[in-house]
Formats: sequence, C-alpha cells, structure tokens
Amino acid sequence: MGDALNHELPSHGVQRSDGRSQLPPSLRLPVFAAPMFLVSGVDLVVAACQAGVVGSFPTTNCRTVGDLDVWMGSISDSLAAAAGKTAREAPAPWAVNLITHSSNARLAEDLKLVAEYRPPIVITALGSPRPVIEVVKSYGGMVIADVVNLALARKAADAGADGLACIAAGAGGHTGQLSPFAFIATVREFFDGPIVVGGAISNGAGIAGAIAAGADAIYMGTRFIPSRESLAPEAYKQMIVDHGTGDLVVSDAITGTAASWLRPSLVANGLDPDDLGRPSGERNYDSSQSPAKRWKDTWAAGQGLQTIRAIQPVAEIVAELEQQYEAAVDRFGSLTAGRGIDPR
Ligand SMILES: Cc1cc2nc3c(=O)[nH]c(=O)nc-3n(C[C@H](O)[C@H](O)[C@H](O)COP(=O)(O)O)c2cc1C
Repeated sequence: MGDALNHELPSHGVQRSDGRSQLPPSLRLPVFAAPMFLVSGVDLVVAACQAGVVGSFPTTNCRTVGDLDVWMGSISDSLAAAAGKTAREAPAPWAVNLITHSSNARLAEDLKLVAEYRPPIVITALGSPRPVIEVVKSYGGMVIADVVNLALARKAADAGADGLACIAAGAGGHTGQLSPFAFIATVREFFDGPIVVGGAISNGAGIAGAIAAGADAIYMGTRFIPSRESLAPEAYKQMIVDHGTGDLVVSDAITGTAASWLRPSLVANGLDPDDLGRPSGERNYDSSQSPAKRWKDTWAAGQGLQTIRAIQPVAEIVAELEQQYEAAVDRFGSLTAGRGIDPR
C-alpha cells in the first residue's frame, strides 16, 4: 500500500468540541460498501470489513428481530476473530442501516440490539437521524444520515448527525438528483462534519475524484451487488455485468420515490419501462408489496454498472479499487506537479 492510501482520517470515537464523532482512521480505502436491501448480508459485511472498507447492511434484511440478533452476533464474532489474523491489523468497522421512517414498526426493537452489539457506525435512512442519536452516542458510536437532497441534509445536520451520506445523481436504489460536485460543495457551506458521497462511483478514479471534490469517504452500492458474497441472485449479478447506463430507468412508480432500475428486470416482470405509470405506494424498502414485489423481482442499479465486468469476491474488488485509486492519485499528482498544488 502506497503512502497515498494511508487514510489518517480523524479517529473514530474521538469527540469533537461540538460532540460529533469522526470517521474511523486508517481505512484501506475511504469506502463504505453501502447498505442494500436484499443484497447486503453477513458474508458481504464481514468480507468488506476484512478487506479494509466499511461493511454495512440494512436491518430490514432480517425478517425478524431474532434474525437480526443472530446477524449482529455473527458479524461481531467474525470480526473479533479476524482481528490480528489478517495482513491488516484490524478489520474496518461495520455499520447497520436503520430506516427511521414511521413505516418501520421495528425501529425500537432494532435499536435495542444496536445498544447491545454497538456497531461503530449507524446509518439512518428515509427519516430523521434524531431517534437513534441518544442510543448510538451513549456507547461512542457514530451516526451518519443518508440524505438525497439539500433540505434533508440541512435537517439531518440540525438534528445532530455526525456525518452525512449524500446520495447524488446516478445512484442505485433510491437516487438523488444533484451532481455530486454541487451536493458536496453546498453541504460544506453549512456542515463541517464528515461527508460521505454516493452515486455512480464504481472505480478507484471515482473515489479519488470524490475526495478531490471535498468528500471524506465514498458510498458504493452497485459495485458490490455482483460480489460473490452478496445475497443477490446470480441472474441479477450477471445483469449488472452485462448491461450499461443505457439500460437504466429512473422512476418513482415502483416504490413512490425516484429509484434507478435495470430495464430488463422491469420487462421480465411485465412492466413497460417507458410507461411505468404513477407512483403506486409510499416510499420504502419493502419487498412484500406488489406490483412485481418491488425490490425482490425488480432489480436496482446505479450508473456505476458501466465499468463492472465480472462477478468477483469482495477482496478482489477492493484490491482492484485500491490499484485504480493509487493510479488516479498518481495521475492527479503528475498533472498538478509544478503548479504549487500538493495533492497529498
Ligand atoms: C439494490 C439496492 C438496494 C438498496 N437498499 C438500500 C437500503 O435498504 N437502505 C439504504 O439506505 N439505501 C439502500 N440503497 C442505496 C445504497 O445504500 C447507496 O446509497 C447506493 O447504492 C449508492 O449508489 P451506487 O449504487 O451508484 O453506488 C440500495 C441500493 C441498491 C442498488
């Protein structure tokens, strides 16, 4: 690992004077394998953390609170067992994603397990981070609020989130509409905590670009769908490998909120990608409702699918991202050499 990859981000657990926690130090890459409904499971989380990037999953992937208890126990145990046994000193921290929207009837129970297992990072989505802050702060954890626009970013910052995951245009699943450049720059005007940016970032050059644009870390979902460890069906993984940006449709008709879908999966479910009609329900990550059982049968992906060429183990994906990132940092360095800019 080159010097460029030593991410001495401010230490996890260190509280700033305003009480906000910081991102974890020394990740191999400043990357989160983002939480994905029906895709991120125990194996993906553990493999991501062992590879040196933050692994995460949404608690909605567990059908019951009992299942969530088992998942959190097995992630904690696997990562504790891995500590000191790999080339890296310690695995990267793990994160859970809690839907804080009023439709999540299980929030209080899930939060009890969060207090018990103490995931270092809790990511809130589809609602205010406020309901989780007290619990997560009580054990020194960090709260990151996933936001898709500036109004939500402001609200989450006011509510006391430590960091913001700004989901920009081109993201898989529920996508934002803003360019990442505009999103990062505007949020930086009113928020001085860590900014994680997501949306169509699938290679190391994209990671470097987002950092250069002012982000502290990168949220990558689509890149990890065709990982060997993901829970996605093989046909879904292969569809990502075989298709490009022209095969995506952004529509709010499936879940009630703008989301980016793979056209062939819509067609396979009898839907017309060019005429999906009006939104059919509340915004949610929920597979139990028709039409097309939403997330289970209609498959989501972001514009980053263009550069994904194979189904690979997470360790190989992260190693590839690292090489690409290093090359991008070197390129930036040589392009800016002699101009009085030191990118490192
Ligand atoms: C299939 C799929 C499922 C997702 N499920 C969730 C979810 O349950 N909770 C959430 O906060 N975000 C969810 N997301 C959004 C991701 O966490 C992340 O914001 C997004 O994938 C980043 O964009 P990218 O796919 O272009 O990398 C999902 C995305 C995809 C592609």
